[in-house]
Amino acid sequence: MKFLLLVIFVALSQKIEYSGMIYGMLESSQLVDKVSISRCHLEMSRDFTRISLEGLIDDSIILAKQCGWNSAAKTLLKFRNNPKSVEKASAELYGFILASINNKGQALKNDGATIGKIMEYMIAELSPTVVKFKADMASIKSLKQSKYPIAVFHGLGDCCCFPGMIEFTRYLGKEASTYSKCVEIGDGSAASWLMGFQKQVNTACTNLKKVSEFENGINVVGLSQGGLIARAVSEMCNITVHNVITLGGPHMGVMSIPNCESGFFCDIFNDALDLGVYDSFVQENFGPPGYYKDPLEYNEYLKQSNFLAAANNEKSINADYATGFKSINQLVLIEFTEDTIVDPKSSEQFGYFKIGSKKDLLLYNQTEDYINDWLGLKTLDEQGKIVFEYIVGNHLQFNNSEIQRTVIPYLI
Ligand SMILES: *[C@@H]1O[C@H](CO)[C@@H](O)[C@H](O)[C@H]1NC(C)=O
Ligand SMILES: *[C@@H]1O[C@H](CO)[C@@H](O)[C@H](O)[C@H]1NC(C)=O
Ligand SMILES: *[C@@H]1O[C@H](CO)[C@@H](O)[C@H](O)[C@H]1NC(C)=O
Repeated sequence: MKFLLLVIFVALSQKIEYSGMIYGMLESSQLVDKVSISRCHLEMSRDFTRISLEGLIDDSIILAKQCGWNSAAKTLLKFRNNPKSVEKASAELYGFILASINNKGQALKNDGATIGKIMEYMIAELSPTVVKFKADMASIKSLKQSKYPIAVFHGLGDCCCFPGMIEFTRYLGKEASTYSKCVEIGDGSAASWLMGFQKQVNTACTNLKKVSEFENGINVVGLSQGGLIARAVSEMCNITVHNVITLGGPHMGVMSIPNCESGFFCDIFNDALDLGVYDSFVQENFGPPGYYKDPLEYNEYLKQSNFLAAANNEKSINADYATGFKSINQLVLIEFTEDTIVDPKSSEQFGYFKIGSKKDLLLYNQTEDYINDWLGLKTLDEQGKIVFEYIVGNHLQFNNSEIQRTVIPYLI
């Protein structure tokens, strides 16, 4: 009798312990790291017929707060308060949620991990440096075939594994009828923040050389921070680079670093930044500080910069860098006219603040870099090899017709 009652009770309430699902989701979405998860294990039960994405996020926020994972809780709350994101996630994850309900809570951890993987991109997408590109494949013209394969580099917090980059890379390859590959510098999002910038470039060089299609020369396309990697490839990799095309690339540096607020790695990054952006440890181990340039602290920048001062030949002249850079056929610098992320946006076309000023902006051809031709900018300019393009809008806000206009002509 007792047993029967118990069975009926279980059948009616169908309560399950599902914190495993939440932990799986938090870990695979990179909101909380493995070690932290192993250190805090609270239980949470729910009637599994009532599990929904919104409920899962709400419960994750509660659990994250109880475990002291405040930035994860904050990120999830931001996501939860964005109706568009939640709606999209619900639509995309409906099947997974339904499956876990149908399985009555079997494999909850795996279900959580699957949901987390998809959530990772949707959370990352809230960041302005992550590309949200959807191509209208029907509009592809494939006018001519490119002689060279394309290597693509993503921006800060983005990943070759995210749908926006997959689509962008595929689109370029189709338009130029050539091999196109997004080249990773680590494990995507986290590495773009948590790897020194020079190391990111070195890894890019190594990974490019592993691709047999790239043996006889390439065109490179870089988005945002990836624009700096793309340009540095022409200087530092000993690979034949034909055209360098950058969209929103901070070539002369930035005066402020974009907010990091989408994953466990942001806690690490933000804590480290407290040491000071020119701290040697910070310069060596984190990405964006490598191209931070304070015109009021130019000497400190020259002394401490892990990447940009060397890459621009501002510190001393590296003849190999200049030779590589000057050997390209075309440098296409695309600036976003309303950019609020790259500060100042003119850095996207090699302009910057005058040294010692936070107000006076110099055109690319008024900087010391250009006048002294440290890297070869003046040489390329005098040979008519620099193209200045504009896309109306904020950082990385483009659609395929703008790519058709500003990028594709330089790939074919
Ligand atoms: C660059 O590559 C060529 C072959 O492609 C090789 O002969 C040369 O030694 C390399 N130079 C450096 C500095 O690695
Ligand atoms: C610098 O570039 C601007 C814009 O292309 C051009 O109008 C100007 O003449 C250039 N200045 C010099 C000194 O070449
Ligand atoms: C792409 O964006 C531009 C500028 O915002 C707009 O004028 C154009 O209509 C858009 N094209 C398509 C195909 O959406």
